[in-house]
Amino acid sequence: MGRRMLVAGNWKMNGLAASAAEFEAMRDGAGADGPEVLVCPPATLIRLFSDLAGGRIAVGAQDCHVAANGAHTGDLSAEMLADAGASAVIVGHSERRADHGEGDAQVRAKAEAGWRAGLTAIVCIGETEAERDAGRTLDVVSSQLSGSVPDGATAANTVVAYEPVWAIGTGRTPTLPEIAEVHNHLRAQLAERLGASVADAVRLLYGGSVKPANAAEIFAAANVDGGLVGGASLKAADLLAIVAAARSAA
Ligand code: PGA
Repeated sequence: MGRRMLVAGNWKMNGLAASAAEFEAMRDGAGADGPEVLVCPPATLIRLFSDLAGGRIAVGAQDCHVAANGAHTGDLSAEMLADAGASAVIVGHSERRADHGEGDAQVRAKAEAGWRAGLTAIVCIGETEAERDAGRTLDVVSSQLSGSVPDGATAANTVVAYEPVWAIGTGRTPTLPEIAEVHNHLRAQLAERLGASVADAVRLLYGGSVKPANAAEIFAAANVDGGLVGGASLKAADLLAIVAAARSAA
């Protein structure tokens, strides 16, 4: 136990240089102690934000290529993201899986690429609505967890984010027992694979329509160690309210 809460903001394809003021408001409002706060802006803003970061706020990336360099037009390596100031990288987000056809093997390789560059990999998994309706949620997240999380995962190099696809950007969330069921299941599966002490320390985030209004109850659910927040991470007031909820839940 003793896991530190983490609130990670995923800005997706939003934000221009003018958004630096919003990031600074997040930095200044995050306070001196409490949950860890990570903002993952588009790659174009990583250098700018990491120059402004400090205190408890850090900067992450949203994706990386598996290779360190080479002939991959338009792609960015984990080494480049680290060089720009990122300390973490999201891999396997459902929008990458859907828009770019990324599967578990590729996600796993991306997580390892992140490690190679010294980044923490935030590995995303989650079922579709059809899979939940068919009663397949635990099977789906189990198979994604085993396929996407590399051997050698530790609490220092890996965070797992459970994000039901149908909850992302929809304003809908699973019930608290549904969230707890998945998180308990993931923790148990990690314990079988990595041993109890590693599994106990790995943080499990919930993501999908986390807002100031629901963050406190979600963060109080069993085995929820914070959130991966999309839309509500774009505004400092919303993100800071979610950070405050994580602080109370810690
Ligand atoms: P949302 O996105 O908070 O806007 O639902 C979460 C995510 O996709 O990480």
